[in-house]
Amino acid sequence: MDTIIRITIDGIECMASRGQYIVEAAKENGIYIPTLCNYPGVKPKGSCRICTVKVNGKLMTACTTPVSQGMQIENNTSELNELRKAIIELLLVEGNHFCPSCEKSGFCELQALAYRFKVMVPRFPYSFPLRKVDASHPKIIKDQNRCILCKRCIRAVKDDKGRSIFAYRRRSHRVEVGVDAKLGKLLTDELAQKAMDVCPVGSIIVKEKGFAVPIGERKYDNKPIGSDIENISVSKH
Ligand code: FES
Repeated sequence: MDTIIRITIDGIECMASRGQYIVEAAKENGIYIPTLCNYPGVKPKGSCRICTVKVNGKLMTACTTPVSQGMQIENNTSELNELRKAIIELLLVEGNHFCPSCEKSGFCELQALAYRFKVMVPRFPYSFPLRKVDASHPKIIKDQNRCILCKRCIRAVKDDKGRSIFAYRRRSHRVEVGVDAKLGKLLTDELAQKAMDVCPVGSIIVKEKGFAVPIGERKYDNKPIGSDIENISVSKH
């Protein structure tokens, strides 16, 4: 049986199961902590830092930090929300995210977070990198312009033997995620759909299918991302 412990989030006393990650405990208590690289049921990686909270005064990623008895967590503060907003802006300027022409528009977590955090015009200059759209695989299109290197596809899309179908290739600032050269042929229709679904942005698109859900009726078109309806305090840039 799970051991129940007490934690506080923004001064609110919450119950949590020992060993649970902070994001999970917060969600069960109806408190929203934004995430991007994290995906339920997939081992957390802690790469995007959008879920950063303060634990007993120290900055920690909520998706990789397990709760402990008496933990005091700060989440919805203007300092942390400004940090999260800056991360979203940096991701937007680092790639080429042209939402109106993206099949994932309305389902895109980066876009939804940008709306939630009131990103108007990023305060950083756009870098407009030259990146490829790889349509060589028979089942999917991998658009490197939109990839945020969260590794969700690498961690979640695996063959029967538990091997990742997606992999990193190249190095340093040229690093990219693509279908593994050897295992790519094992990408079934189901796994291709899963890859598209776990991708938080529009970097993996299943071929020969589109607009099954019309624009305006998509996941985040009418309801903002997050489990609460609280307003967050961030400035407009
Ligand atoms: S969601 Fe926690 S670091 Fe990305």
